[in-house]
Amino acid sequence: MRRQLQPELLDELPAHDPAAQHSRRDLRRINRCMGNAGLVAASLSRSLRSAPPKRIVDLGAGDGAFLLQLVIQLPTLSPGTELILVDRANAADERVLAELRVRGFRPQVELADAWDWLRTRPAQPGTWVVANLFLHHFAEETLRFAFMSLSEKAAVCCACEPRRAAGPLLASRLLGLIGANAVTRHDAVVSVRAGFAGQELSGLWPADTGWQLTERRAGWFSHLFLAEKNATAAPAP
Ligand SMILES: C[S@@+](CC[C@H](N)C(=O)[O-])C[C@H]1O[C@@H](n2cnc3c(N)ncnc32)[C@H](O)[C@@H]1O
Repeated sequence: MRRQLQPELLDELPAHDPAAQHSRRDLRRINRCMGNAGLVAASLSRSLRSAPPKRIVDLGAGDGAFLLQLVIQLPTLSPGTELILVDRANAADERVLAELRVRGFRPQVELADAWDWLRTRPAQPGTWVVANLFLHHFAEETLRFAFMSLSEKAAVCCACEPRRAAGPLLASRLLGLIGANAVTRHDAVVSVRAGFAGQELSGLWPADTGWQLTERRAGWFSHLFLAEKNATAAPAP
């Protein structure tokens, strides 16, 4: 299946639109079905043991529910870790932020274009970047450019995206069965068509920069990409 990019409806709707709010609730259920927080947590666990992060940046964080689930599934993560939620929509859910605070974290919400934000942010050691159902929004040229920035700013980068394959496409067409609204039903199909397969994301990462890359299908519907800076590579300035 060739990769196809089409606009997603959720990206066009104001955060307070009831259809957008419904769709973000759908996303929580879809994330549960895909098991994405668990898949990312499992991928990060080795790095967490060897060199825990000082901060985790979630690009395209949406309502923050994915980051909360990730934190829950990383019980050894220190509450001193900064959590930064970047999204251009004002979609962070106060209850999710409150839940993170109860766990001792101090989440910081950044209302910005993710790549602009990343580009203008100074490199800080111990920065991990996660992205869930986010990278598939972008064309290869944008990702190639964005990955250059990520490789300069992050020590670890983990993304969980829709897997572009027949099974996930069929599942995306059945989301009406779990009560997903028209926005979600549209965006899910578009997302799978824009998703990833094989080693497509690794091919966009800058070559020879001292990174270990892992890219694979994960779970029933997901595609996982993990970039870890080699311990011997020069630290971010
Ligand atoms: C499919 S949603 C996923 C949200 C969240 N990661 C989750 O798992 O529920 C994609 C998110 O990316 C955000 N987004 C799209 N383009 C963006 C951009 N250029 N910069 C920042 N956020 C963006 C949207 O507002 C939306 O919240």
